[in-house]
Amino acid sequence: MTRFDHHRRPLVIGIGGTTRAASSTERALSFALRGAEAAGANTRLFGGTFLHSLPHYAPEQPNRTDEQLELIEAVRHADALIIATPGYHGGVSGLVKNALDTLEELRADERPYLDGRAVGCIVTAYGWQAAGSVLTSLRSIVHALRGWPTPFGAGINTLETRFDSVDTCSDPKVIDQLATVGQQAAQFALAFNAHRATQTEPLGSAVASTPTARLLHAV
Ligand SMILES: Cc1cc2nc3c(=O)[nH]c(=O)nc-3n(C[C@H](O)[C@H](O)[C@H](O)COP(=O)(O)O)c2cc1C
Repeated sequence: MTRFDHHRRPLVIGIGGTTRAASSTERALSFALRGAEAAGANTRLFGGTFLHSLPHYAPEQPNRTDEQLELIEAVRHADALIIATPGYHGGVSGLVKNALDTLEELRADERPYLDGRAVGCIVTAYGWQAAGSVLTSLRSIVHALRGWPTPFGAGINTLETRFDSVDTCSDPKVIDQLATVGQQAAQFALAFNAHRATQTEPLGSAVASTPTARLLHAV
């Protein structure tokens, strides 16, 4: 088994947005990804335009498009994710859900679906009710995919908070919240990768460094 390289920067993948050019969801996601970068991660964004290029996921069809394969490969190599969806009619949008359905292709992986990966969750909605309820739905989906929702998630009421450009948000508290989502995803990836590295150390040195082993050596 090759030794796991825990010195590299973790890769955090962002999935989310809408088809709108000025998507507040995608802009919120970008803020969170910058938080992940500040915490030591590399990032990659799959925004609304990309998600719109994905065909409807059809499990019975054997062939996948280049875009589907690009998303699947990126998530396969990701150390953490951040998913951002608008609340559409009380649920996760079809655009974002279709991307998540496409991750069914990861079912037979050594790390199936989102196994072992932290997932930051972000929801935008025209009101607090959908912001809260859709955040819960998104976290349930992440659980179903075996991911680890970060302790902090962000629900944003876009009737109150504006994202007038890619780099601007009208509420500094929301900027902090989004940075926290990104930071927690990156920190989990760093901690989990360090843990995996100890699991792939040669058995002798890993065992020798456990408290029980040190105790046994002492007697
Ligand atoms: C088809 C559709 C359904 C929506 N349903 C809801 C809803 O159920 N509850 C809500 O609070 N907002 C709803 N909204 C408002 C969006 O969640 C909100 O405008 C969101 O911030 C849009 O994200 P965007 O700026 O990234 O496009 C809906 C908008 C659309 C277009």
